[in-house]
Amino acid sequence: MTGAVHAPAEQPTTPGTATGSPATGVETPGATAPVRGERHVVGRVEDVPPGEGRAFVAGGVQVAVFRLRDGSLRATQAACPHAGGPLADGQTDAGVLVCPLHLYAFRWVDGCSPGSALALRTYPVTDVDGALVVEV
Ligand code: FES
Repeated sequence: MTGAVHAPAEQPTTPGTATGSPATGVETPGATAPVRGERHVVGRVEDVPPGEGRAFVAGGVQVAVFRLRDGSLRATQAACPHAGGPLADGQTDAGVLVCPLHLYAFRWVDGCSPGSALALRTYPVTDVDGALVVEV
């Protein structure tokens, strides 16, 4: 896959510390609001073993990135919307992500958990020459 990504790899930071977008010049409302719609390199594809997830920070947003067994990538919010479970530690397959705390299942296609009103926020994630790029 090709594509230019200008953001350097990020180290974990305090969530919500992004202050603006040098790429667009658009100021975010408030000093603690993360910038939306920007692509961030969070690590390398090999940082996430096949069939597993890992937690990263992208632009001040905590995300969980998964590499499914078919090689495809998925990204969601890091904390479960039910009670804050660590979604990067969840079990996954091609169709769903299961939270490790109370086993709610969330569909990759829309983030919804059938039978509940809960839904995950999902993020676009791509492999750019081996770099994990998450758009938040
Ligand atoms: S915290 Fe995820 S299902 Fe309860």
